[in-house]
Amino acid sequence: MSSPTVFSTILFVALAVVVLSTNTPQAEAARAFFVFGDSLVDNGNNNYLLTTARADSPPYGIDYPTHRPTGRFSNGLNIPDIISEQLGSESTLPYLNPELDGQKLLVGANFASAGIGILNDTGVQFANIIRIGQQLEFFQRYQERVSALIGPAETQRLVNGGLVLIVLGGNDFVNNYFFTPYSARRLQYSLPEFSRYLISEYRKILMRLYELGARRVMVTGTGPLGCVPSSLASRSTNGQCAEEPQRATELFNPELIQMIQSLNQELGSDVFIAVNAMQMGTDFISNPQAFGFVTSKVACCGQGPYNGLGVCTRASNLCPDRNVYAFWDPFHPTEKANRIIVQQMMTGSNRYMNPMNLSTIMAMDSMN
Ligand SMILES: *[C@@H]1O[C@H](CO)[C@@H](O)[C@H](O)[C@H]1NC(C)=O
Ligand SMILES: *[C@@H]1O[C@H](CO)[C@@H](O)[C@H](O)[C@H]1NC(C)=O
Repeated sequence: MSSPTVFSTILFVALAVVVLSTNTPQAEAARAFFVFGDSLVDNGNNNYLLTTARADSPPYGIDYPTHRPTGRFSNGLNIPDIISEQLGSESTLPYLNPELDGQKLLVGANFASAGIGILNDTGVQFANIIRIGQQLEFFQRYQERVSALIGPAETQRLVNGGLVLIVLGGNDFVNNYFFTPYSARRLQYSLPEFSRYLISEYRKILMRLYELGARRVMVTGTGPLGCVPSSLASRSTNGQCAEEPQRATELFNPELIQMIQSLNQELGSDVFIAVNAMQMGTDFISNPQAFGFVTSKVACCGQGPYNGLGVCTRASNLCPDRNVYAFWDPFHPTEKANRIIVQQMMTGSNRYMNPMNLSTIMAMDSMN
């Protein structure tokens, strides 16, 4: 006779535990963060892949808390890590990291993969990397896993309320259009035509992100591609920014900002925020001293002129103080430069962030 009562008491207690444990942590959790794109934001996915585009050996990570390489293309933290700090959360795990499971899924995830671009034929030389279409499929699979954990309604809330960062475009020029003097894309398109083509494909990618539930998406174009140590070493004769990649940057970035404005207009909401990486990078290059850098031309780790040739390895030159260099390797900023970039994302004017900066976004979204 007593057994149904005991059973229902146990059931009641079990239900109460479920209700409490699903409500409490989410009420306190910071908003989720999702990252898509290339090596500027990859935090270790490529470690799990058979590719040459990797940052898993020293001196990468030399200033990371563990002082070990992690797959980040930086001496220390990268841009997503520093955004996570601002959100008050731990860094997102790479999607391919097996530790991304259970409650950790609720922090968000990083789907980025070094070497990829807007186009599928970008980065073919790196073999096995996660192209953007695949990153978006992984985002969908991620949502299915979260749904199994907290249910579909809460999952939609988590994704709609999440912050998204997407960084694409640099490799479509560096590792595609400009990769060889007679690349297929160069034979097919003039530079302005190619830039317009990239923008039309980027637009489709952003719409797909929207369909998958993203509602606050920071979108970056490219930094000043002609001024990075790699371009100075291989395409410039006098240390001036190389002309053709600079022209690409100057075509692509304003078109990207325009495309984002028209997309927001169409959606009737400021879903997409243009991050003007070209302006941020140009600031370092025109006045490195103002940011505490001794140079923005020479990479900390590398070889050849401007330490801009080849890749950063154990055998490369290595600067003793990474805080006084804007570039860590021939393409990627130091942690110090990444911190300045995120500061601009947080508080920058319309010159840097369009239509608004991250501190405004965070203040607005916390009221909803
Ligand atoms: C890239 O590849 C994906 C998957 O194969 C495909 O769905 C997509 O349409 C391709 N994109 C372009 C621009 O060809
Ligand atoms: C950016 O953030 C600051 C606050 O740090 C604010 O005063 C400023 O108006 C913002 N600018 C824009 C364009 O949203």
